[in-house]
Amino acid sequence: MQNEENRSIPAVGDAYSSFFTLHSAFPMTTDAQILTALRAANDGGVSGAQLAEQLGISRAAVWARIEELRSLGYDIEASPHLGYRLVSAPDLLHADDLLARLGKTKIVGRDIRVFQETSSTNDVAEKLARDGVKEGVVVFAESQTCGRGRLGRKWTSPGKRGLWFSVLLRPAVRPQEATRLTIASVTALARAIRLQTGVVPEIKWPNDILLRGKKVAGILTEMGAETDRVKHVVLGMGVDVNQAAGDFPPELRKIATSLKIESGETVDRPALAAVIMRELDRDYARACSPKFAELADEWEAQCVTLGRNVTIHIGDRTVAGRAESLDDDGALLVRTQHGRLERITGGDVILEK
Ligand code: BTN
Repeated sequence: MQNEENRSIPAVGDAYSSFFTLHSAFPMTTDAQILTALRAANDGGVSGAQLAEQLGISRAAVWARIEELRSLGYDIEASPHLGYRLVSAPDLLHADDLLARLGKTKIVGRDIRVFQETSSTNDVAEKLARDGVKEGVVVFAESQTCGRGRLGRKWTSPGKRGLWFSVLLRPAVRPQEATRLTIASVTALARAIRLQTGVVPEIKWPNDILLRGKKVAGILTEMGAETDRVKHVVLGMGVDVNQAAGDFPPELRKIATSLKIESGETVDRPALAAVIMRELDRDYARACSPKFAELADEWEAQCVTLGRNVTIHIGDRTVAGRAESLDDDGALLVRTQHGRLERITGGDVILEK
């Protein structure tokens, strides 16, 4: 059963002030507003009276919300001089806190939903798409029971070790341009990983992120389309964050790694999640505009596929040759042994030595 833990849409009667609503396309819950104020104060504090006034609730109600956040693991100090001060946050994905960390975005993350466990966040996002939910909603799960990868593969998604989430988009692009979104999302993800952890990822076409040749993240793009129009796209992202080598099943240990293994440090998952959403919001806008060329250049600079001899399995067909470049829509152009240029939009790419 899907267990929705918390989400960014407020309960009826939640109060909010115009100051706080500037930070989100949706009205924020009281907890999101409190966390926004505490984070904005950095090491300083926010007085209970100030919070109560800005939120339009009593100081006792503010206190009750602070107690609730403490019970989730937020260490919030209260002092007569400084007021409330956020000392540390727990390693959990909490919709209100993700919203507070993210701040203002155009589309991605204006609605965030977190599940303790679900089958696949792509399935949840697909259902939201069919229900007519606006683009930009991000569905996270602490664990997935049926996480899936590209080409029908299983995606292992253990509890609280990684980031497993899906983003619903409704881009105004033609189906043949949808590869642009994969290029945009993998470029944003690679940049976010670099910004947050300092490790330098490599990209394997179309959407694998590697560290020292081992896979650390992947993206599953699923699309609902008519002949000449994309109705919606679900970008499912899986990032191996804090696993130790022994957390991976034996068959994956040679080919998979985590950010913690590669950086030598435990990574702050909620902080990374917020940076990924921010970078994705930025690159989504670029993917659907003439600025896609800029994005493709950035992708290319990190890509380990271009210039390499590759073998690509596309269903029953195999294409072998040299990966030359990307075309304007993000498809891979491969020069075969016979000198023909093949346009590749999917498949399993093997990098030859
Ligand atoms: C791949 O590299 O094969 C793509 C992996 C995508 C995994 C993510 S985890 C969140 C979302 N839900 C899924 O079931 N899959 C994607």
